[in-house]
Parts: sequence; structure tokens; C-alpha cells
Amino acid sequence: MPVILSAALFALLCFPFVAIAQQSTKDLTQLLQSNQNLSEFTTLLTSYGDIYANLSFQSGLTILAPNNDAFNKIPYSSLGPAFEANQSQIVRSVLQYHILPGLHPSKSYNGSFSFDRTWLQNGSYTNVSAGQVVGGVQQSGPVNIFTSGMGSRSTLVTPDLQFTGGIVHVIDTFLIPPQTFIQTVPQFNLTAAGGAVENASLADYVNTHKDLTLFVPQNAAFQVLGGTLESMPASQLQRILDYHIVNSSTVGYSSSLPNGTVLRTRNGQNLTITFASNSLFVNQARVLQQDLLLANGVMHVIDNFLDPNAPSVTANPEVATAPPLIQGTSLSDNLVPFTSYLPTSVTSFDTASATPTSSFGASDIGKGTSAFASAAASASSSSTHTSSKKKSSAERVEAPRMAVTVAGGFFGTFCWVMGAL
Ligand SMILES: *[C@@H]1O[C@H](CO)[C@@H](O)[C@H](O)[C@H]1NC(C)=O
Ligand SMILES: *[C@@H]1O[C@H](CO)[C@@H](O)[C@H](O)[C@H]1NC(C)=O
Ligand SMILES: *[C@@H]1O[C@H](CO)[C@@H](O)[C@H](O)[C@H]1NC(C)=O
Ligand SMILES: *[C@@H]1O[C@H](CO)[C@@H](O)[C@H](O)[C@H]1NC(C)=O
Ligand SMILES: *[C@@H]1O[C@H](CO)[C@@H](O)[C@H](O)[C@H]1NC(C)=O
Ligand SMILES: *[C@@H]1O[C@H](CO)[C@@H](O)[C@H](O)[C@H]1NC(C)=O
Ligand SMILES: *[C@@H]1O[C@H](CO)[C@@H](O)[C@H](O)[C@H]1NC(C)=O
Ligand SMILES: *[C@@H]1O[C@H](CO)[C@@H](O)[C@H](O)[C@H]1NC(C)=O
Ligand SMILES: *[C@@H]1O[C@H](CO)[C@@H](O)[C@H](O)[C@H]1NC(C)=O
Ligand SMILES: *[C@@H]1O[C@H](CO)[C@@H](O)[C@H](O)[C@H]1NC(C)=O
Ligand SMILES: *[C@@H]1O[C@H](CO)[C@@H](O)[C@H](O)[C@H]1NC(C)=O
Repeated sequence: MPVILSAALFALLCFPFVAIAQQSTKDLTQLLQSNQNLSEFTTLLTSYGDIYANLSFQSGLTILAPNNDAFNKIPYSSLGPAFEANQSQIVRSVLQYHILPGLHPSKSYNGSFSFDRTWLQNGSYTNVSAGQVVGGVQQSGPVNIFTSGMGSRSTLVTPDLQFTGGIVHVIDTFLIPPQTFIQTVPQFNLTAAGGAVENASLADYVNTHKDLTLFVPQNAAFQVLGGTLESMPASQLQRILDYHIVNSSTVGYSSSLPNGTVLRTRNGQNLTITFASNSLFVNQARVLQQDLLLANGVMHVIDNFLDPNAPSVTANPEVATAPPLIQGTSLSDNLVPFTSYLPTSVTSFDTASATPTSSFGASDIGKGTSAFASAAASASSSSTHTSSKKKSSAERVEAPRMAVTVAGGFFGTFCWVMGAL
């Protein structure tokens, strides 16, 4: 009887652990090869041999891996031109943006956004200290969503694939590295704010200063004040706009703005955050869209202007829209002001200035182990990674095998003891 009981216990308790332990001993190469939906990603990753080598030697990582469907969507996204022309520096930055230090299992996400650092740190692509972030949230379904630049959303389709160095989450759309303010405003119909920043000679600051938090009035708020805003002295316009720019050393994502937070703006005056009735307010203004990621921080769209002459005004969550604090008149024909100052030739990803690389540099290959060097070499002998079908086993390269995981060892010992009972 005790024998049967302990055998039953052994089977019940140990089988799942043994299964988990075996699953987590896959290394990254084995994991990628075992999932047919990741064949395009595998080819892309192995053609950046140094990143791939680096990934394989790290532990405690989370990789957001775009599936083959995601590759099919590239031509229709702002990543299209860079991938089409194989702008390897840009593609490299895109890959780095899909790698998160730390373990972020799907269950660690809840109904509140978290903003997690990535390996994208190069100042040519980001000006967020310690690395650009990706937003993660669990929405009803439940379904996990990741948000990135230009308001993009990627859905987590296969969560929590374990490998020796961490976790792979399979996503259905590429993350877009956040772009500058001026590149991002047209996407959200914030053309008046974009033009006003140009007109007030604040564009360089707003586009490149590190770690900014911007509160950006919607076009309609500019529209009702168009005449007044366009005719006020430049210094006065700049003072108003400065009151919408928070230049602290940390970025104000919604997750770091609890009720009552006080933020110091570029003109030295404070703003007060209120969270009430499930809405976020800054002074009296209601946040309409939160956490639009930028190359150098974040912006939140607000319904009305913040008034530097009324810094102590508080939110009234009871009313849908607080009346504008700044009084004035619109332009004739109710035109949207400042839009003529918006540069006409702004495109996402500065593909013009980046030169395509026809081959992966020998010096880069040298940085990997010989196994990775041959990964890079075999991948670079194939056609571009945007074209599909090229799944020959010649492109699959063995990575150094990692040791059996600590967890596996622990549970193995546990089960051996159980078995001996
Ligand atoms: C690949 O994707 C298909 C369709 O989304 C899915 O049914 C299948 O389970 C996936 N395969 C793996 C190994 O995740
Ligand atoms: C950062 O990106 C630029 C432009 O692509 C590149 O020239 C430079 O080598 C990169 N720096 C690092 C440290 O990778
Ligand atoms: C969501 O998770 C974060 C940590 O990941 C935690 O700080 C926060 O309190 C959680 N929020 C809710 C509503 O559970
Ligand atoms: C691996 O990548 C991390 C994050 O970008 C970087 O800090 C580290 O220097 C890289 N290591 C190697 C050996 O390239
Ligand atoms: C980051 O800031 C530097 C210095 O101001 C600037 O040259 C660079 O273009 C900025 N990067 C981005 C992505 O805007
Ligand atoms: C700003 O806009 C006003 C009104 O349109 C115009 O008179 C002024 O010249 C502009 N200043 C700059 C620097 O563009
Ligand atoms: C953009 O804003 C203007 C000004 O408020 C508005 O008239 C227009 O309908 C908006 N366009 C879109 C696409 O929302
Ligand atoms: C913010 O900008 C103002 C005006 O340029 C400057 O005086 C202040 O030192 C800046 N604060 C930070 C934290 O950079
Ligand atoms: C802004 O807030 C800080 C910290 O809460 C406070 O020390 C400072 O006096 C405030 N500044 C103004 C102009 O109210
Ligand atoms: C936020 O603070 C305000 C004023 O301090 C308070 O009235 C409100 O109830 C607080 N909201 C929450 C969700 O605690
Ligand atoms: C694209 O760039 C990558 C990385 O530099 C390289 O491995 C690959 O061979 C290039 N593809 C083409 C078609 O030039």
C-alpha cells in the first residue's frame, strides 16, 4: 500500500516537473528550430551574428519574436522601406527593440501598463536613458498586447516558450521603434502642436532632448484659440508650450504617475497629476490618449491647454471637458493654426541617411563564435530576409549546448528522492 501510494505521488508530483525541466533545457537555437512559425525570425536573427551570439550567452532574457505572419505585414508598415532596402543598421535597431532584459512571463502583465526596457540603446535611434521601452498590458480576453512606436500594437499569440536563457513570446506584428515627436504627430492628428513647436523654435529640443514627457493638446484645442495663438508674441507662445514639457531625468509613463504626482516643467512651474473616475488628468486637462512612445520619451494627448497663469487649478472629474482656461478667438474659417510650419518631408525612419549594407561585415562575424560566424555566413548567402521561402536546413546552425538548468537539477534530485522512498 505505501509503495503504491508513493508511486502514485511520484507520478503525480514529478511528471510535470520532469516535463518542465526537459522543456527548459532547450537552447535558443533548438527552440527557434522547433517552431515552424518562427522560421523567418530565425533567418533574420542569425544574419545578425553578433546579436545572436550575445543572446545565446545571456540569461534571464525575454524575446518578443515576430512570427511569419508578422514578416508578411512588414511591407505595409513604416518598417517597409528599411527592410526592403536591407538598411542593416535600422534592422539591427528593430531587432534590439525586441529583446528585453529580465524575465517577463505572460502572467506578470496585468490590467495596468508596464513599460519595460529593451536592448535598444543606441543614441542614433533612441534618447531614453537606460534603453527604449515597450508597453505591455493584459486586456480582456484575456489577451496580452505590446505597444510600441507610432501607436502600434502587437498581440501575444504563443506565450512563455522556455529556453535556457529565458522566455520567448511569439507576437503577430513587429514592434516599431518609437520615432521623434515630429515624425509621430501626423499619425495622431496633432499637426497644430507639431507646427507650433516649429514656430516657437522648440523643435530641436522636443525631438532630441533626453527623457521628455510631453502633454500635447489635441488639434481642436488649438483650433478654438487659433487667432490668439498665432498673433501672440513668440516669447508668450514659448512660455505656454514650455509648460507642457516635463524635462525631468525620468520619463513620465502613466505607470509612474500615481495620483497626486507633481511634475516640474521646462518653465520651472509644476503640474499636478490626478487619477480619478478611472481617468488621468494633468491640472484641469483630461488625458485623451496616454503613453504614445517617442524616441526620447513619451507623450500624452490632452483635451485642452495647460495654463502657466493658473498652475494650481485642479481637475474636476465630474465634467467631461473642463472649459478652456486660456481665452481667445479662432482663426477666420476656423482653420487649424500653425500647420503650415509642419515640415512637409518628414518620414519615419531616416532611410535616406542610412546606407544599405550589402553584406554582414567580416569584423562583425569575427565577434561571434565560429558556430555563429557560420550562421551569419550561411544566412548572408541567401536572399534578403523580407523574401519568404528559404527554409533549407543548411541555414540552421547549432549553438553551443547549454548546461542542464538549475531547476531541472533541483527537481531531478527531488524526484530521485521521491522515487527512492
Ligand atoms: C503556428 O501558428 C498556427 C496558426 O497561428 C498555430 O495553430 C500553431 O499552433 C503554431 N505552431 C506553433 C508550434 O506554435
Ligand atoms: C549606433 O548607430 C549608428 C548608426 O546606425 C552606428 O553607426 C553606430 O555604430 C551605432 N553604435 C553602436 C555603439 O552600436
Ligand atoms: C500590476 O503589476 C504591477 C507589477 O508588475 C504591480 O505593481 C501593479 O500593482 C499591478 N496592478 C494591478 C492592478 O494588479
Ligand atoms: C550584449 O548586449 C548587451 C545589451 O545591448 C550589451 O550591454 C552587451 O555589451 C552585449 N555583449 C556583447 C558581448 O556584445
Ligand atoms: C538623440 O540626441 C542626439 C543629440 O541631441 C541627436 O543627435 C540624435 O539625433 C537623437 N536621436 C534621435 C533618435 O532623435
Ligand atoms: C510664428 O508664427 C507667426 C504667426 O504665423 C509668424 O508671424 C512668425 O513669423 C512665426 N515665427 C517663426 C519663427 O516661424
Ligand atoms: C484633425 O483635427 C482637425 C482639427 O480639430 C479636425 O477638423 C479633423 O477632423 C481631425 N482629423 C482627423 C482624421 O481626426
Ligand atoms: C529643464 O529645463 C530648464 C530650462 O531649460 C532648465 O533650467 C532645467 O535645469 C531643466 N531641468 C532638467 C532636470 O533638466
Ligand atoms: C514644485 O514642486 C516642488 C516639489 O513638490 C516644490 O519644491 C516647488 O516649490 C514647486 N515649485 C513651484 C514653482 O511651485
Ligand atoms: C486622487 O487624489 C484626489 C485629490 O487628492 C482625490 O480626491 C481622489 O480621490 C484620488 N483618487 C484616487 C483614485 O485615489
Ligand atoms: C542584409 O543585411 C544583413 C546584415 O548586414 C546581411 O546578412 C544580408 O546578407 C543582407 N542581405 C542582402 C540581400 O544584402
